[in-house]
Amino acid sequence: MKKKVYRKSIIKVSDLYKSFNNNIVLKNINFELLEGESLAIIGESGSGKSVLLKNIIGLLKPDRGSIKIDNTEMVNLQRNSKEEILLRLGITFQHGALFDSLKNWENIIFKIANQDKMNKKEGKKLAFAIIKQLGLKPEILDLYPSEISGGMQKRVAIARAICGNPKILLFDEPTSGLDPVTGSLIDKLIKTAVKTIGGSAITITHDMASVCRIADKVILIDKQTISWSGTPREMFVSENTKIQEFIKPINSEIFFK
Ligand SMILES: Nc1ncnc2c1ncn2[C@@H]1O[C@H](COP(=O)(O)OP(=O)(O)OP(=O)(O)O)[C@@H](O)[C@H]1O
Ligand SMILES: [Mg+2]
Repeated sequence: MKKKVYRKSIIKVSDLYKSFNNNIVLKNINFELLEGESLAIIGESGSGKSVLLKNIIGLLKPDRGSIKIDNTEMVNLQRNSKEEILLRLGITFQHGALFDSLKNWENIIFKIANQDKMNKKEGKKLAFAIIKQLGLKPEILDLYPSEISGGMQKRVAIARAICGNPKILLFDEPTSGLDPVTGSLIDKLIKTAVKTIGGSAITITHDMASVCRIADKVILIDKQTISWSGTPREMFVSENTKIQEFIKPINSEIFFK
């Protein structure tokens, strides 16, 4: 008999509600991310995916519910303790959010540089080692975010998130606006981070090919709540009409031979 392996809970969201004035965005949200797992969150534009991520990282406060990271309750946690936990996370925001006044290499090592005192040479060396995996050239390190293309900025933001090998990765639309080749590079990177360093990832995406490549588990946000969850394979036999709409453009044979 196969021995059951119990994996650690990395993020657990229970009974989460969030509204803005009278606009209910999320209700009764429950899900768990386990150690070594890659979770994809899908849903139509405006369904509340980014709002969910912002609740998890404490940028927004839920109206109700619990968010546990590494078994610590984050809602109402004191600022210092919260910041200490958030340092374990690598996050990218949907709209980049790089520091305009810092060069790209300074952006990339920002979190680490604050913790470990690092000189310029070491910092740039580390930043270069990361951007190489993302198909970026060393020339961009000394430029400012405004001097590189949107797709490059996106990759610098990803480099910043993975710098220091955080065990928990949260990506909001990491491949949107990127060409398919760069998109698959990012997918590989997410997979590698999860599989080789035993990390866990949540990726919000509209890119269903990417979902098939990176996710162990998928959740669909629809009508303010999680209306479907399952594996990428299960999406292709699902009777949920919204899931069917999402997977329509995808040829499953490419992913599941
Ligand atoms: N700070 C805010 N104040 C008021 N309403 C907000 C705020 N942030 C988000 N919303 C609303 O919450 C809803 C969900 O927004 P959210 O950004 O989470 O959508 P999304 O699923 O990430 O969409 P997309 O795929 O386009 O990124 C939208 O109706 C949006 O207008
Ligand atoms: Mg969003």
